[in-house]
Order: sequence, then C-alpha cells, then structure tokens
Amino acid sequence: MVIFCKNNIENTLHHWVSENHYQSLVIICDENTYQFCLPKLGQLIEKAIIVNIPAGEQYKNLETCQKIWHTMTHHHLDRKALCINLGGGVVGDMGGFCAATYKRGIDFIQIPTTLLSQVDASVGGKLGVDFEGFKNQIGVFKEPNLVLIDTIFLETLSEREKLSGFAEIIKHCLISDKKMWDKISNTNFENQDIDFLVNHSVAIKSKIVEQDPQEKSIRKLLNYGHTIGHALESYFLGTPKPFLHGEAVAWGMVAENFIAYKLGYLTDKELEEITLFIKQHYSKPYLSSEMIENVINLTFQDKKNEQGKHKFVLLKSIGEAVFDVEVNISEIKSALSYLNAII
Ligand SMILES: NC(=O)c1ccc[n+]([C@@H]2O[C@H](COP(=O)([O-])OP(=O)(O)OC[C@H]3O[C@@H](n4cnc5c(N)ncnc54)[C@H](O)[C@@H]3O)[C@@H](O)[C@H]2O)c1
Ligand SMILES: [Zn+2]
Repeated sequence: MVIFCKNNIENTLHHWVSENHYQSLVIICDENTYQFCLPKLGQLIEKAIIVNIPAGEQYKNLETCQKIWHTMTHHHLDRKALCINLGGGVVGDMGGFCAATYKRGIDFIQIPTTLLSQVDASVGGKLGVDFEGFKNQIGVFKEPNLVLIDTIFLETLSEREKLSGFAEIIKHCLISDKKMWDKISNTNFENQDIDFLVNHSVAIKSKIVEQDPQEKSIRKLLNYGHTIGHALESYFLGTPKPFLHGEAVAWGMVAENFIAYKLGYLTDKELEEITLFIKQHYSKPYLSSEMIENVINLTFQDKKNEQGKHKFVLLKSIGEAVFDVEVNISEIKSALSYLNAII
C-alpha cells in the first residue's frame, strides 16, 4: 500500500504505527536522513532504536547489513518489531533486505526521501545489496507493509540527486506515456510539477508490478535503460567520478535507444529528441575503447540475460517498449560508441 502524505508525514506515520500495535521500532537512516529527515517524524523517534549508517552506494553491502542485524539482535528485537527505512534507495533496499531476513522476516515500511526512491525504489518489493562489485547481486523480493511518500523530504535534496530521480520519471514516460513525455520534454526542470510526476510514476510502476511481481514478463519493461545503465554504474563505482544511479540510467537509455534505432524501431527523429533532452540534463561520460570492453563485460551480469544471451528492453516508439529482445555484443559496442559521438 502506498500513501501520499502531502506534508503530513508525522501524523500519518504515528497513526499507522499505533493502529498496528508494534512492540518495538527500529529506524534505519543514513547520516543525511538522520540530520534532515528524522526530525520530521516527530515524537515517534523517542521510542525507536535508531541505526545510523554512512551514506552512499559504497555502503550498500553485507558488512553494513551485519551492523544492522547486529543492532537488531543486540536490542533483542522480536518478530513483532517494525523496521522503518527512512532514506533513499540505498537505505530502502538494504534496510528492507535486513528486515526481510531478520528472524525470517519482520514487518517493515519504506519512507523514501529521495526523488529516485519515491518514484522507483520504494515500489515493487525488490530488496538487496551489492556484492563483489555487482549491483544488487544479493537480495529478495518482498513487499513492504506500507510505503509513505511525502515530497516535503525533497526540500533538502541536492539538485544533482533530484535530476538522478528525474531519470526514472523520464523512463516511465518513455516506456508507457507519450503524452507525458511530450509534456516533460517541453518543460524546464525547474518548472516540472514534481508532486504530479511522483504520483504518475508510482501509478505506472505499481500497475506493471501488480501484473508481474516476480519479473517473469512485463515487469522487465521497467529495466529499460538499465542493462547498459547498471554496467556504466558498476564500472564507475569506486572511481573518482562515480555515476548516480539515475545518471547512469539516463545514458543507458540513450545507448539502448541507438540499438532500437539500428533495429528499425525508433526513428532518427525520436532517437535525437531523447538524446538531446538527456544531454541537456546530464553530463555525458567519455568511454575509451578499453572502458567500452569493460562495460560490455559488466553487462553479462544483467539479471535479464538467459543462457548467456543478452536480452534487452527496447523502445518500439516513444511511449511503447518491448522486452526480451536479443542483442549481440557488436550492437552493444556500437551503442556505447554512439555515446562518444554525441556532441
Ligand atoms: N528496489 C528497487 O526497485 C530500486 C529501484 C531503483 C533504484 N534502486 C536502488 O536505489 C539506490 C539509489 O537510490 P538513491 O538515488 O535514493 O540513493 P541514496 O539512497 O544513496 O540517496 C542519495 C543521497 O541523498 C541523501 N539523501 C537522502 N534523502 C535526503 C534528503 N531528503 N535530503 C538530503 N539528502 C538526502 C543520501 O544520504 C545520499 O547521500 C541504488 O542502490 C539503486 O540500486 C532500487
Ligand atoms: Zn533504476
């Protein structure tokens, strides 16, 4: 269940927690949400055990999980406890994973505090952590008991983080709503109606996930931009210039569009229209030929691959996507080279 709180997070949360009679509460946050978001939860925090983890994707790993499980164990949390994940996708994915596995699973709620986690990560029940350099390598599917979305949290978010989340909004429009794409692509970022777009994205994602919770078919559409996007994100993880998730996905969409264009799905006009919009919002990576080889190697880890074959989600046209399209290595290579050719 998703509730849009409209600047009323404290009361909504308080109400729900008292109605459900939890014996203990644990709140997982990172150093930033501890500072900026936790105070917005009001009195409830006085009764809760707070776990404050370092911020950033590099801490989305089993070592941090161990610290979370350690705190839960140390405080003798039983199965009637509630875990509240207050943060972006990192806290949501990892805190949710810890809750779903602690004593074989305790209740948990997601309170996403970044645009990316509000429009994407908090919906759909995918939980997990990175492992040995691979994104979300270890994890489970489990729906939270509740998702509370309040855009008031976005007030303290940096512009770069907002743009990262905006990439997933763009993705949702491109795979299923041409009219909305036309609207957002003709509006400056400062003038986008974020409240409306959060609702719009959550509606699209929820509808798709409902039909295919375990990603056997149509849910794969949500991975548009992510085969190459995840490979770019993994490659640059730990380098001086790491990508934010949405930034990598934005360029992943552009590269994958080139494949769609080459296969005769997207027209050159559509390809250029999307590329131009992405270029206006996100700074472009440069990839040497050695880097391209490494990024291609990373695409082999994509969870959509079957029997060693790359399966992509591609746009048929703006507003319509298809999944399970077999793509070969040389097509991926030319898609990555296309990124270098953009001026
Ligand atoms: N489960 C899914 O379906 C799903 C979908 C998309 C992405 N993800 C995952 O989500 C992660 C990325 O999420 P993210 O972009 O939210 O990253 P994040 O959780 O690292 O948050 C980004 C930064 O913003 C800070 N922050 C969070 N809320 C803030 C606020 N209100 N004010 C100020 N600072 C704030 C964080 O401390 C962090 O430094 C990735 O690990 C990705 O794999 C998961
Ligand atoms: Zn994503």
